[in-house]
Order: sequence, then C-alpha cells, then structure tokens
Amino acid sequence: MSEYKFALLVLSDSRSKNPKEDKIKPLIENILQSINSRLTLYDIIPDEFELIKSTLIDFSNNNSIDAILTSGGTGLYERDVTPQATKEILEYEIPSIPQAMLFNSLQYTKRAMLSRMVAGVRNKKLIINLPGSPKAVRENLEYIIDVLPHAIDKLKGDDTPCGVT
Ligand code: MTE
Repeated sequence: MSEYKFALLVLSDSRSKNPKEDKIKPLIENILQSINSRLTLYDIIPDEFELIKSTLIDFSNNNSIDAILTSGGTGLYERDVTPQATKEILEYEIPSIPQAMLFNSLQYTKRAMLSRMVAGVRNKKLIINLPGSPKAVRENLEYIIDVLPHAIDKLKGDDTPCGVT
C-alpha cells in the first residue's frame, strides 16, 4: 500500500493557547499507521471563521499532502464554525463520508447527531471534519480510515476500474 501524507488542523480556542494539551495529534498518528500513512503538517488554531478558511486554503494548496483532517468546532456552540468555514472553501462535498461516520457513531452515543461534520474536496485534496474529543475522533475516523486510500488514489487520477475486493 502507498504511503499517504495527511495534514491535521485542530480547532480549539483553549488548545491554541496551550498546544501541549492537544491529545488529538498522537491519536490520529496512531490511526494513520493502520493505512501506512503519516501526519506531515499540523496546526492548532482558535475557532475563527476567516482563519479556518485561510488555513484550509493554505493546506489544500500544499501539494506535498494528500488529505486534510480537521478536529473540533463541529458542534452547536456559537464558536463552533468549522463546518461553515469548510463548506465555503470546498469545490464539492462528499456527504456520504459524514453520513457513514454518523451511522457508526450512533451506536456509541445519540449525541453524535449534534456534530455537523462536512467532507469534500478542494484542489484534489480530501478534507474531512471530525469532532473535537479524542473519543469521538476515534469512533469516527476508525470507521472510515480503510476507505481513504482508495478515495485519495481516485483524486490523484487513478482510473483503474473500482472492482470491490
Ligand atoms: N461522535 C462520536 N462518535 N462520539 C462522541 O462522543 N460526541 C458528540 C458529537 N459526535 C461524540 C460524537 C458531541 S457531544 C458533540 S457536542 C459533537 O460531536 C460536536 O463536537 P465538537 O464540537 O467537539 O466538534
């Protein structure tokens, strides 16, 4: 399996002031190992709409990465603006990715329906929102992780037939 390079953008007012408190980076690095992939770009920024947009644009313009994960800011608090910011920079959405994550998450907590995660594509980069807690990140990302290499291959132009194995 190819090695894929991921970016992680953590959205958190509190952790942007205390980056050492972020537990998402090691968790995601660990999950990425299951698809022989690694984190090569990482930042923590506050829940600021314009800053999220400009950072996602910068990340997706970086052709040394294949996909971008965000964590946090998907809920209903007034400072939760990650999905709105993500939608504004996407060229198109892939609604079935959040739907699949919700499908899996509802077995753990009905509160999963309170996350407004968005997924889609900009500049051939897959961009996927995840919630902010380590538990929620694990329950969402582990469910979809094995599909991501195929999605990235297709975005990179792989035109071999999609036979289901
Ligand atoms: N999804 C899963 N799988 N597990 C969880 O514990 N927590 C939910 C939801 N999604 C949760 C989950 C809760 S309580 C909230 S408020 C939303 O994610 C939003 O989280 P965020 O604001 O940290 O992005």
